[in-house]
Amino acid sequence: MARKIIIDCDPGIDDSLAIMLALSMPDQIEVLGITIAAGNSPVEMGYENALKVLEFMDRLDIPVFMGAGCPLHREFVNALDTHGSDGLGESFLPPPDPSKYIRQDKSALEFLTETLRREPASVIALGPMTNLAMLAQEDPEAFRNIEELVSMGGSFRSHGNCSPVAEYNYWCDPDAAAIVYRESDRLRRLIHMVGLDVTRRIVLTPDLLAYMKRLDSRIGAFVEKITGFYFDFHWEWEHLIGCVINDPLAVAYFADKELCSGFNSYVQIETRGISLGQSVVDSMNFYRHSPNAVVLTDVDTPAFFRLFFSRLLKIDIKSLDLIPDLVRS
Ligand code: BDR
Ligand code: CA
Repeated sequence: MARKIIIDCDPGIDDSLAIMLALSMPDQIEVLGITIAAGNSPVEMGYENALKVLEFMDRLDIPVFMGAGCPLHREFVNALDTHGSDGLGESFLPPPDPSKYIRQDKSALEFLTETLRREPASVIALGPMTNLAMLAQEDPEAFRNIEELVSMGGSFRSHGNCSPVAEYNYWCDPDAAAIVYRESDRLRRLIHMVGLDVTRRIVLTPDLLAYMKRLDSRIGAFVEKITGFYFDFHWEWEHLIGCVINDPLAVAYFADKELCSGFNSYVQIETRGISLGQSVVDSMNFYRHSPNAVVLTDVDTPAFFRLFFSRLLKIDIKSLDLIPDLVRS
């Protein structure tokens, strides 16, 4: 039976790919709704981008809810330098016709509260965790009802992408991330931390994109349109030919735990100073504190791309023979 999820995100190029993947796995994942927080893009832009992706996927029936417009305590710093001025790789796709979807009056927090009070559901968090921290603070019962929490964020041994030690989602709203880890600790529920150690190994290369276009020209062209800017950014800043698509790994891992491996540990998020936003992983158990996270450190990259392609493009996994040759080693 499909597991119910809420996607909390900040679309965002890779968030969009993650939404597309989640919607392509109806036998395993039922998306109850998408909640937006300010992150890669300002919250209104993220809201609109989610709708654009839903329109492309012909799933405007999925409700989207606008959430926090800024971090809990810090000044908001978006990532439009990475995701383009429209937050979607400067694809400048037109927003869907308002007659095609229902504009939700509820806020993300209201939707999260109501849904999780009604039934347990999992949350895949792909952006700064401002909405989730607000939920934890304002309705601990609803927060407790989160079945599984998978968070794209943080890093263990890998360097940061916003500072030498911090990853963007946790760096953008470190106070929110700290609250979510602290509250999960209190509930003795493990957060699945899909951090940069594993997502940096998910590189969409020009070869993989070409393969995608050969297999499905419509979806391939859409992915090409929204990732072009991301390719340029990675070349300029990381000297990488390709782009790191972090967020879909969190969705894929939610559905198939075999894709990544790691260890359980106590994790705290730094909220001040030069290591602001760092996920401090007590891998050596200095604190003698029970774990509050599963820290993922290894990923089967070809297996991820096999799943990503087969689900997104609706192709039998066995016929994806070129993946091992095209994946960056
Ligand atoms: C994370 O930050 C954003 O740029 C991406 O969407 C991803 O969620 C990676 O650090
Ligand atoms: Ca994101």
